[in-house]
Amino acid sequence: MIFGRIKPLDAILATAEKKSLHRTLGPIQLMLFGIGCIIGTGIFVLTAAGAQKAGPGLMLAFAIAGLVCIVAALCYAEIAAMIPVAGSAYTYSYATMGEFLAWTVGWALVLEYAIAASAVSVGWSGYFTGTILGEFFGLHLPAWLSAGPVALGGAPGGFINLPALVIALLVTWLLMIGTSESAKVNAVLVAIKVSALTAFIVLTLPQVEMERFNPFLPAGVFGGFGTGVGAVGAAATIFFAYVGFDAVSTAAEETKNPQRNVPIGLVGSLLFCTVFYILVAAGAIGTIGGQPIMGPGGVPFPAGSEELARQCALPQYAEALVCSNEALAHVLRQIGFSGIGNLLGIAAFVALPSVILVLLFAQTRIFFVMARDGLLPEGLSKVHPKWRTPYVVTAITGVAVAIGAAFFPVGQLADIANAGTLYAFAMVAASVMLLRRTDPSRARPFRVPVLWLIGPLAIGGCLFLFLNLPTPAMLMVPIWTGIGILIYGFYGYRKSHLGLGRVEVHEVEIEDIEPPIPATE
Ligand code: ALA
Repeated sequence: MIFGRIKPLDAILATAEKKSLHRTLGPIQLMLFGIGCIIGTGIFVLTAAGAQKAGPGLMLAFAIAGLVCIVAALCYAEIAAMIPVAGSAYTYSYATMGEFLAWTVGWALVLEYAIAASAVSVGWSGYFTGTILGEFFGLHLPAWLSAGPVALGGAPGGFINLPALVIALLVTWLLMIGTSESAKVNAVLVAIKVSALTAFIVLTLPQVEMERFNPFLPAGVFGGFGTGVGAVGAAATIFFAYVGFDAVSTAAEETKNPQRNVPIGLVGSLLFCTVFYILVAAGAIGTIGGQPIMGPGGVPFPAGSEELARQCALPQYAEALVCSNEALAHVLRQIGFSGIGNLLGIAAFVALPSVILVLLFAQTRIFFVMARDGLLPEGLSKVHPKWRTPYVVTAITGVAVAIGAAFFPVGQLADIANAGTLYAFAMVAASVMLLRRTDPSRARPFRVPVLWLIGPLAIGGCLFLFLNLPTPAMLMVPIWTGIGILIYGFYGYRKSHLGLGRVEVHEVEIEDIEPPIPATE
């Protein structure tokens, strides 16, 4: 019975004990780690797609998505402090809902991490071509080299996003040779990103004109399930701006006083980003406006669509926020701060690759754990003798990420990543509630207050955002899960170590061969 294959929690925890990592991280380091993973393409680039879906209602969208993440984060805090081992949502589900559902969660995490890494690569490409090549070198890549076949930003005629492809491959190579981000580098990059956003807020807010917010909700609050428009449709897309906070949970084992610090790290970094994001959205839309380009019937053209790309190529939309590939730098240039806009572009150029690195790293770690459980071929977790990294799985993942980045628009990639992430978050909340029932007496360093309210809120919030994604992104989850179930049926079900009666306690974890992020110095 596949649902009966539940991995004993004691075996999972014994694995954690064998590792005996030093508990060195405090609340500030955890928050910095969280912010380092969170701030990226979502705010720097998807602000344009969000405005195309909701207009000024984007501010409300950031608040809605932030709230859903905060309740989900509380659930992560309880389970991460209780089961502080590699594998995140996949491991938690394995211990509660059994192998089959855990496999679907691990498989959905591919959408979260790998597709998100593609999306961030495309976001980086916008700043690279716009700020670095365009503003500093006066070079303009032809459309066929700077965008996939259909891309936001008025680039009909796109064929391949070469810069996105190159950055994804470059980061893959860095990971293969054993590069990881140290706590110090992370802190510097967080400082760069936060300074850029602070400068943006300080320069734009005094220039805000209230009439720019009118109409506040040009596409309504609910655009309708599957349409991906309206404030909730925008929330479902810019949810991407918060993706990555769950990486904090992977550091639970290295955290001092996890009962206090894991929830502070998770919720604190999210709250911090939510406030920043709402202010950035206000500054962007309040200065240059952010009304959507409406299609037939007064419904905004879908972000990332060919129709929108055609509209954006028209002269009257040349300066529109919703058409920009480098939204925040574009706003600053429009309001007379070209130099600072370019600095912000450099900040994105420098800092976004580290988000790709963290996402790719997380992906390889999940695959590594799944292969170690026998659900994927063991060859995938092969460690390179010199680099000491799981180079096979890193290379395969990196090439797939690069292909996604080369051919798809950022908004569509982000929506697909969100769909998988929302599924994983809902399963984590369900695992927390299940464990309270099935294993009530186990020590919980942190307990979600009023779980029976917060848990259903997290699941309901994730489901609600999921249903407000554009239909193609939503469909990716059942299609991807279907592929996953086939693979499980033909491979994992028969090769599963648990299924073969082997419940192992592993001494060698991926963290031992490659330092976790953030490595403390
Ligand atoms: N939250 C991350 C970003 O916006 C994935 O780039």
